[in-house]
Amino acid sequence: MKVLGRLGLDPKRTRSLQTQLSGQLRQLIQAGDLEAGERLPSTRELAHDLQVSRNTIVAAYEMLVGEGYIQPHLRSGFQVCHAAQAFQKLAVSDRIPRERRIEPRQPAAPVPFRPTQPDVRLFSLQIWNRHRTLALKRGTSLLHYQSRFSVGLDELRQNVAAYLRASRGVRCQWQEVAITNGSQQALFLLAHLLLKHGQTVYMEDPGYPGARNAWEQAGAEVVPVPIDEEGLRLPEAQVTKPSLIYVTPSHQFPLGTCMSLARRLNLLQAARTADAWIVEDDYDSEFRYTSPPQPSLQSLDEQRRVIYLGSFSKTLFPTLRLGYVVLPPALVERFAALKSVADDHSPLIDQATLSSFLESGAFYAHLRRCRRHYAERQEHFLQQVSRCGLPLQFPVTGRGMNLAGLLPEGSRDRLWSSRLKAAGLDVPPLSRYAIRPAAPGLLFGLAAFDTRSIQRGVAKMAQVFDMR
Ligand SMILES: Cc1ncc(COP(=O)(O)O)c(C=O)c1O
Repeated sequence: MKVLGRLGLDPKRTRSLQTQLSGQLRQLIQAGDLEAGERLPSTRELAHDLQVSRNTIVAAYEMLVGEGYIQPHLRSGFQVCHAAQAFQKLAVSDRIPRERRIEPRQPAAPVPFRPTQPDVRLFSLQIWNRHRTLALKRGTSLLHYQSRFSVGLDELRQNVAAYLRASRGVRCQWQEVAITNGSQQALFLLAHLLLKHGQTVYMEDPGYPGARNAWEQAGAEVVPVPIDEEGLRLPEAQVTKPSLIYVTPSHQFPLGTCMSLARRLNLLQAARTADAWIVEDDYDSEFRYTSPPQPSLQSLDEQRRVIYLGSFSKTLFPTLRLGYVVLPPALVERFAALKSVADDHSPLIDQATLSSFLESGAFYAHLRRCRRHYAERQEHFLQQVSRCGLPLQFPVTGRGMNLAGLLPEGSRDRLWSSRLKAAGLDVPPLSRYAIRPAAPGLLFGLAAFDTRSIQRGVAKMAQVFDMR
């Protein structure tokens, strides 16, 4: 069979040998080079010709059997299926020209100083897997559809409620906690639940683009509200009444400001006057290094207008995609109904694992470890920046995973960001987060990078800034 001479496997490629082989055989069938009814060489023969193990050939053949391209023939052989002719017609018309083919991407680790990345290397997968095994030992119930749990496993909601009451002063019953796929999903669902087309959302400016996208996607008009050293500075007179106000009061994204008590009370009063909801995104409140945390805004709210949200993306790892919302009682059922339309529920095995992880205290031990490292990294970064005399000022330090660094007035932060990018650094400009023109600056994520990478990163920055 001459065409099989065209097969070639390369162990250096990222795709496995069996995937390479099944792909090449599939292409030969699709192109009609291997015709319906034609017999393929035995697994032993082909393994010998291609100098690979017989298991590789068996796995590739099995894949093609599953896809309906080939079928077992006689005792131990395989032949091309007659039905594969249909694939030939389809494949010819749908074939993608080589130049338009895009190589599949691989997930990669962030480069310095990409913001909002936790150090996932500090997270013990071994401990996590122990809790996962424990969760699975309880039987197979976690594997069934469990539509009754659209807002999460009750045990996890109870553990999250206990955590939020103790650490953030959140006032809640566990039944008011909903588990979501990260806080991004909570933002999306809240936008659809609370906003009608054309309604107004007040949003911090600069602010979190993921939230802005959610409001705009639901058809709302976003009104930018400036930030000063006390946090959100609401306009004296509200031109358009907001239906919703979005804030990150404990650690403003991206500037890092903590909203003062006076502003918090003012915000609650303004929301009451406008009859608006407040969405409090408490995104990295867990990381305080030099002062005790301020209790949440939700803890001051007598009217239950504040919808509190948070996430395990920063405290554990972002691809876990588990976050939580604390809903005012009036919204609980509607939120649950919408969440079940979106995805039935968030993955239950991860939820059960997380619940056990929280209950055992492993979560708190992990947080303490992260806090220690992140504080050290932030301090190290600031020392390096000042040693190199970089033209950056850091008005808010001592908390959070990111630091906003202000550039001298009149600087073009996008230009500096792209120069840093060319030097292999990922440092977004503050203007990327702003709706109105903002003070120029750069946002540095420090949590995910050890002191050596920070030192190397700052040295690269020094070279870039010397090019002025
Ligand atoms: C302020 C803020 N809110 C929400 C999110 C979304 O987080 P999650 O991963 O939980 O969707 C992020 C992510 O960086 C964030 O910075």
